[in-house]
Amino acid sequence: MTDAPPIVRLTDLRLDRGGRAVLRDINLNVPRGSITAVLGPSGSGKSTLLSALTGELAPAAGTVEVFGQAVPQAKRALLELRKGIGVLLQGNGLLTDLTAAENVALPLRAHTDLPDAVIRTLVLMKLHAVGLRAAADAYPRELSGGMARRVALARALALDPPLMIYDEPLTGLDPIASGVVMALVRRLNDTLGLTSIVVTHHVHETLPIADHAIVIANGGIVFSGSPAELEASSDPLVHQFLKGEPDGPIAFDAAPRTANAPETDPA
Ligand SMILES: Nc1ncnc2c1ncn2[C@@H]1O[C@H](COP(=O)(O)OP(=O)(O)OP(=O)(O)O)[C@@H](O)[C@H]1O
Ligand SMILES: [Mg+2]
Repeated sequence: MTDAPPIVRLTDLRLDRGGRAVLRDINLNVPRGSITAVLGPSGSGKSTLLSALTGELAPAAGTVEVFGQAVPQAKRALLELRKGIGVLLQGNGLLTDLTAAENVALPLRAHTDLPDAVIRTLVLMKLHAVGLRAAADAYPRELSGGMARRVALARALALDPPLMIYDEPLTGLDPIASGVVMALVRRLNDTLGLTSIVVTHHVHETLPIADHAIVIANGGIVFSGSPAELEASSDPLVHQFLKGEPDGPIAFDAAPRTANAPETDPA
């Protein structure tokens, strides 16, 4: 695994938002077959980092390579690249007037000319992979939060992307559903031969399934290593983040979006 070229390679990357640097001097290799956890406090730039992988945000400096190629700027090439990246965003983004199966079929209908019967078969395979074949004809309102998240996961897998990126896959899920989703992330990664990047502040749920962890804070990577090394780290930044302490070397995020908007669904 270590000799293969990385699926994602970030070199001296700087990313700006609203005219200021959110992240700088980012260097990261994501080896094929691995799961990398991207941890860090709210507003530290985790989602911003993902937007560079999908080409939504161009680097202000440095390079972003995915599948061994620089992320293109041209629209057509970018669309082609994005077919290879499965994205599970924080909200499920399921269309409420479509069944689970119809939701999973959306990317197949948009990007292939496959006949309906083949699409149905592929959709059932994807739903089976997330343990929800029986829920194919249910509407999102009939599903629990954890089930809906798994349908969204099946949809992200629809085109068999070699790279999966997850942005806060556990938001709004209880501990049991969180465990199910994280175990699924690991199992799908290994059985389908994927490479996964999981952005989260759910450290304790995510580290057990991760091969590598990075912590982002104060505009850069403040830790990069194995989950065991992370838990053993004596770095004050890492310590503050892992313990969730308000006072310490991580500056409190001042953006209004995160200052008073809890990320969990009001239950
Ligand atoms: N479209 C935008 N325009 C300007 N600033 C932005 C934009 N998107 C994000 N930012 C700023 O960039 C910084 C990083 O935001 P980002 O969403 O990447 O953080 P995050 O680590 O994903 O946070 P969270 O854990 O809350 O999702 C924040 O200060 C945010 O306010
Ligand atoms: Mg985010």
